[in-house]
Amino acid sequence: MDYKEAYEKLEKYGQLHVLKYYDELTEDKKNTLLGQIAELDFSILKYCKENTTNQKGAIAPLAAMQLPEIEKSKEKYTEIGLEEIRKGRVAAVLLAGGMGTRLGSENPKGMYDIGLTRPVYIFQRIIENMLDVVRQADAWIHLFVMTSDKNHDVTEAFFEEKNYFGYNKDYIRFFIQDVVPASDYEGKVYMEEKWKIATSPNGNGGWFSSMNKCGLLDIIRKDGIEWLNVFAVDNVLQRIADPCFIGATIANGCVAGAKVVKKNSPDERVGALCLEDGRPSIVEYYELTDEMKAAKDADGNAAYDFGVILNYIFRTRELEEIMDSQLPLHVVKKQIPYRNEDGEYVEPDAPNGYKYETLVLDMIHQVDNCLAYEVDRYKEFAPIKNATGIDSVETARELCKKNGIEL
Ligand code: UTP
Repeated sequence: MDYKEAYEKLEKYGQLHVLKYYDELTEDKKNTLLGQIAELDFSILKYCKENTTNQKGAIAPLAAMQLPEIEKSKEKYTEIGLEEIRKGRVAAVLLAGGMGTRLGSENPKGMYDIGLTRPVYIFQRIIENMLDVVRQADAWIHLFVMTSDKNHDVTEAFFEEKNYFGYNKDYIRFFIQDVVPASDYEGKVYMEEKWKIATSPNGNGGWFSSMNKCGLLDIIRKDGIEWLNVFAVDNVLQRIADPCFIGATIANGCVAGAKVVKKNSPDERVGALCLEDGRPSIVEYYELTDEMKAAKDADGNAAYDFGVILNYIFRTRELEEIMDSQLPLHVVKKQIPYRNEDGEYVEPDAPNGYKYETLVLDMIHQVDNCLAYEVDRYKEFAPIKNATGIDSVETARELCKKNGIEL
């Protein structure tokens, strides 16, 4: 993109201030800035005035496949899932592009050591869980690791240093998620440097389109990968590429599946899988009305009682179909370092603008059906969001110990 094209693009979106220092930049920096202007999607900035996430349709309950029912068909489902894995039709996608702000560690969250008497890194727990399935299936499973521009190098170097925790490195691929501009409350992008627009990762909903941008869709097609199990970095107990989950989704004719846990209270901060205008969807805990909290299913149990744990499988065919449709944008306040009017670098200590994110949970509403598949929360749900308190290193350690994991 040349200067004229950049000028026109910026003018269209009311962002001409980006070129304020252009004339004083070196040729190299000029080119970097023009490249960034060419790449970035400024159209999302209009949502600074209007979050696109709060226009929900008619919500109704979606019954989950619960533990006793799964138990009855466990062998059959597991065999179907193992067969898919052996045929190389299943891959896993680890979402590790987050900032982990609440945990407060400088490093990527997966590098956090939860061990007490020996090192037990979060990434290590994930790999150990995958290795269980690799042994069971006697086949390697592709693992795609999504990082962000901010944590990519350190994540990759860490895996290498730890010898991929015993995983076959030929089956691990890292890719960087896309970024979007970060703006002030009026939707004007901040400049991080005189030659660089401030950006932030585009949220975990960008995982599949980022895979495509990085050329991984070609591998998926070439290798005939039909199912992607996408999961969050922070749950140290979750089963990944779980054969029974995959088999249950396939046997029930679904194009997607979501692992869910029985909520420990109606107010637990997890989204509940439901139907929205007849399609699968997730209603966030803060969107549940008193009426919905009181609603009962045919057996007299709470109707919105199963929360998602950010472990989903999607059929790749459907992912390709929905890839170009816009997901709702979540506009979130954020502290954004920037250059002020005088070109001085400012690191704010309170939020001063917005980041724009899409979320993987919103992809559920784009597919025709989704199996809500219950897992035992005491065996499979140990998220690490905070350093202490709820969903913390402490609670995850307790659950690991109860599951016989030496820390
Ligand atoms: P969270 O919503 O918990 O965000 O991400 P986070 O960045 O890890 O932590 P906080 O909110 O700053 O404390 C859920 C999952 O989505 C991934 C995270 O790495 C985690 O696995 N994620 C989140 C991405 O991969 N990219 C993003 O842009 C955001």
